[in-house]
Amino acid sequence: MKTNAPIGIYDSGMGGLTVRQAVCRLLPEESVIYLGDGKNCPYGSRTVEEIRQLSIEAVEYLRSLGCKLVVVACNTATAAAIDHLRATYPTMPIVGMEPAVKPACLHTKSRVVGVLATERSLDGELFRRTAAKYGADIEVLTTAGKGFVELVEADKERTSEAVETVRRAIRPMLERGADQIVLGCTHYPFLLPALEEAAAGFEVTFVDPSEAVARRVRQLLDENGLRAETGHRPTYRFETFADESYRQRLEQKAVDTK
Ligand code: DGL
Repeated sequence: MKTNAPIGIYDSGMGGLTVRQAVCRLLPEESVIYLGDGKNCPYGSRTVEEIRQLSIEAVEYLRSLGCKLVVVACNTATAAAIDHLRATYPTMPIVGMEPAVKPACLHTKSRVVGVLATERSLDGELFRRTAAKYGADIEVLTTAGKGFVELVEADKERTSEAVETVRRAIRPMLERGADQIVLGCTHYPFLLPALEEAAAGFEVTFVDPSEAVARRVRQLLDENGLRAETGHRPTYRFETFADESYRQRLEQKAVDTK
């Protein structure tokens, strides 16, 4: 495989742009194709079977475009489909999202950690395993970010509606003493300003795993001899299963995210 081939990054919609940004920053010589499904977003309340099917179609598409590695920049799709995807594409490195429960548990002083994620991620095996492994003697509170993905998809993350929506979700966790809140969905970092406003007066850190995922991408590229050549000038491309106007919105949001 040519090392200058692109990295594929996939999400149900715009959320994975937060991961894309971290990957582009850490690996400036790598070309990237971003696929934001868009047509089937949100995934969070779909069945595992549906998400698995959608993920296979997405990874297949990125593979057909020549991607050398794929990042499933969607916690929901990772929880539902990562094992299935790795079994289907055994020769291609695939990076998934892991809820950042480990760093949150390492840093909490109050011994109370909050996790915000989609409904489907929270009831998944992956989350249960991670929480049991790292949060054994720590209280782990979970809340589904109801309406969060929709706000981001509608470019409404900087509105008072966004602040109110996130306030409703995080207040109970803050009041029970959570000093670390894990952003367990790639859409949620877009809501950081709203989250910070809603958490005013509380000592809390919001944990975004994007940079850790970018480091994992670099490690896998190195291990597999897949890094782009030194001095390679990257190309960036945006793809969707929705329409051209959605594709353009992805592109625009990526510029705004920088
Ligand atoms: N960005 C997603 C995640 O990380 C998916 C959200 C959704 O489509 O519900 O979970």
